[in-house]
Amino acid sequence: MLRTIVLLSLAAAALGTVIKIDKCEKVPEDVCTISESRISPCVNGNECKLKKGKEHAISFDFTPNFSAEKLKTAVYYVNRGMDIPFAELNDADGCLYTTCPVAPGVPQQLNYKLRLSKKLPSGNFPIKWRVWNEANPAQECCFLAHLAISRR
Ligand SMILES: *[C@@H]1O[C@H](CO)[C@@H](O)[C@H](O)[C@H]1NC(C)=O
Repeated sequence: MLRTIVLLSLAAAALGTVIKIDKCEKVPEDVCTISESRISPCVNGNECKLKKGKEHAISFDFTPNFSAEKLKTAVYYVNRGMDIPFAELNDADGCLYTTCPVAPGVPQQLNYKLRLSKKLPSGNFPIKWRVWNEANPAQECCFLAHLAISRR
């Protein structure tokens, strides 16, 4: 029993905590599915507490229903319905964080180490993560997650 618990917690530490994600309204479901997202460190997957200036490993599994030679990616925080890009990852080369090219129905994993800028507001807000086909931005994968961002 103890052995199982130790092994499970080791696995959780390595992979991160599975977080609750929501779909992005504007992205039709048949374009891309996102099956799971994980953040480490994160104690509560319903609302991870992230600290500014610290590095957080974020990964997610997605299956595009399109092919693309190159991907772009960006992360935003959503403030009063507006998507405000994180300077750290805005219109970035997605192929640095997942394998390219992508093919329809082939599962992908994107891994990113996010260091939150001290300039970000503190508080609880949704973030939006997008990955899209550079050649056709309508082909995109997108999810929302709720984070609590604090100074320390
Ligand atoms: C992939 O997209 C096509 C249309 O482009 C659609 O007919 C099909 O159902 C989609 N597949 C999945 C798994 O969503």
